[in-house]
Amino acid sequence: MQTKRSSIDRVHPQAELIQEGAEWLKAGELVAFPTETVYGLGANALDASACAKIFKAKGRPQDNPLIVHVCNRTMANLLVLNWTTAAELCVQHFWPGPLTLILPKTVLVPDIVTAGLVNVAIRMPSHPVALRLIEATGFPIAAPSANLSGKPSPTSGSHVWCDMKGKIPLILDAGACLVGLESTVLDVSGGIPTILRPGGISKEQLEAVLGEVLVDAPTEKQAPKAPGMKYRHYAPQGELLLMSGIRERVIQRMGQEIQRGHARFKRVGVLCTSESAPFLHNRLPDLLFVLGSKDRPQEVASNLFEGLRLCDERGMDLILAEGIEEEGLGSAVMNRLEKAAGKQSKHI
Ligand code: TXA
Ligand code: MG
Repeated sequence: MQTKRSSIDRVHPQAELIQEGAEWLKAGELVAFPTETVYGLGANALDASACAKIFKAKGRPQDNPLIVHVCNRTMANLLVLNWTTAAELCVQHFWPGPLTLILPKTVLVPDIVTAGLVNVAIRMPSHPVALRLIEATGFPIAAPSANLSGKPSPTSGSHVWCDMKGKIPLILDAGACLVGLESTVLDVSGGIPTILRPGGISKEQLEAVLGEVLVDAPTEKQAPKAPGMKYRHYAPQGELLLMSGIRERVIQRMGQEIQRGHARFKRVGVLCTSESAPFLHNRLPDLLFVLGSKDRPQEVASNLFEGLRLCDERGMDLILAEGIEEEGLGSAVMNRLEKAAGKQSKHI
């Protein structure tokens, strides 16, 4: 299939491009589009055979349900059987925005979307292109992140192009995504609200509105409640070592690891904060990617996936990643880095 990649204005999306996207979606095809978090790979959420194409294009396991994107509350009401008080509060405070709510589904939602679960994941994105596109189709859009399964989520049109060219008819490219990490997935179907995946809205922000909020902590016996969280996700081709703790020690340790790597003829990449970069630059890694300031987790979040993708592109055998404070958006950053590192995390 030939893939067209069209540049679209983020703030004032061109009507003819939105229309073109809507036509493909109405015809049961897939369209990649930007959201404020990451790019989505969209299909008509009410059409089971259109949604099946998503799993095929991504190589996604069938047991991993999709998030349904809506542009207004009326559309959301068609999909949700009953709204809890917590859900109502979330809608008031965080929609449109990077928060996905887990709620009981109506019969309108095909089983393939929820992978047979009784609950649906639903979100109103704030990106103007996403909202206009949903409006123009008139139906909700099911969309996972527009990467191949096992790769980092795409935060730019180029990332989507790299993973989806030849597989879908259209990519709406509005440049870089502002948040750069996926939405927070919050179960508000009953009981104490529980974070199933940390993301664009922090636990602290949720607690300020909802009071107590739990975090789903899967154990060896109990699978995570968001099926997608059981996959290792992004495993870079190279080995990734996550290092956090006292910054001076992390820098020193990274310097040693660069030397050791080079002694073994490895190409060593470093992902670090702007504060540590000048010191690590001196240690001559093969790639130095600055994630952003340690005091601005938002900046680090928005650059993280670009940095991880770059390390693979440039063939790094060893990737040394500097951890940041697990606070606010920093928790979501660390969650993604820990997943990429597998068990290779060091606190020093
Ligand atoms: O920011 C985002 O959330 C992006 C943009 C495109 O909206 N989407 C995204 O989708 O990250 P995806 O498919 O890559 O991740 C969705 C996560 C998975 O971990 C999935 O298992 C979980 O949400 N999920 C979806 N439906 C669920 C459900 N009914 N119950 C529990 N978890 C669900
Ligand atoms: Mg994903």
